[in-house]
Amino acid sequence: MVDDVLARSFTLTGADYDRYRPGFPPAAADVVMPHAVRTVLDLGAGSGKFTELLVGRAQRVIAVEPSEPMLAILRSKLPGVEAHAGSAERIPVGSGAADVVTVAQAFHWFDRDAACSEIARVLAPSGALGLLWNRFDPSCAWDRAAHRIAHPALGDSDATTSAAADELPGFDFVRREQLHSTERIRRDAYLRRWSTVSTFLVADEVARAQMFDAIEAILDSDPETRGHDEYDLPIVTDVFVYRRA
Ligand SMILES: C[S@@+](CC[C@H](N)C(=O)[O-])C[C@H]1O[C@@H](n2cnc3c(N)ncnc32)[C@H](O)[C@@H]1O
Repeated sequence: MVDDVLARSFTLTGADYDRYRPGFPPAAADVVMPHAVRTVLDLGAGSGKFTELLVGRAQRVIAVEPSEPMLAILRSKLPGVEAHAGSAERIPVGSGAADVVTVAQAFHWFDRDAACSEIARVLAPSGALGLLWNRFDPSCAWDRAAHRIAHPALGDSDATTSAAADELPGFDFVRREQLHSTERIRRDAYLRRWSTVSTFLVADEVARAQMFDAIEAILDSDPETRGHDEYDLPIVTDVFVYRRA
């Protein structure tokens, strides 16, 4: 069940989200779109962190996103992209208009069955759907511990990628790829990144300050981060590809 308050939290961010959230490795776009296509639609596109990898891979790139502050950033960064306000459950494009639909870091916010039916509607016959998530690398103890602060209910599980399933209504599963990358990140940028995460966006001032204190305590005690201003942060990018059944 999607938490609507958390799903709408992205109306509270835009520029900070774009500045502090990680991008995606270009290889992730290769997995979803091994060949150039006519039209690709990025759903839940946010500020365009994945959309930007689609430019040049399709004649027409469409972005759909419900948060106006996010859309404003996307429009200013990517003027060649057709950007529309809309949601996964009501996609403002015609039936069969897209050869590929991509969803980066957002599918877990959708009403799954309604979104799958809308995505199937806008896809051309046998069009592809790519779901992508950046997530913590379990080998990185300090980042994993910070995730537990931000998402205490989850423990070490991952509620995002678990939204992807072998069986999505109306789709055939094609493949899954896991890509590994490392980002050099400054301590202050790592902390600012947390301020763009849904649980921080909706928290009151006291709760947010407590979460920041807890993450700073982790950074001050873990042997990999203690006493350093910059860290090597490993990131796993999960990519799931489906075809319209
Ligand atoms: C974590 S952000 C990911 C943004 C972007 N795809 C990226 O990878 O940076 C999740 C995005 O999903 C959007 N979102 C939430 N609920 C949605 C829905 N029902 N339909 C479409 N987008 C939704 C949010 O507004 C937000 O921009």
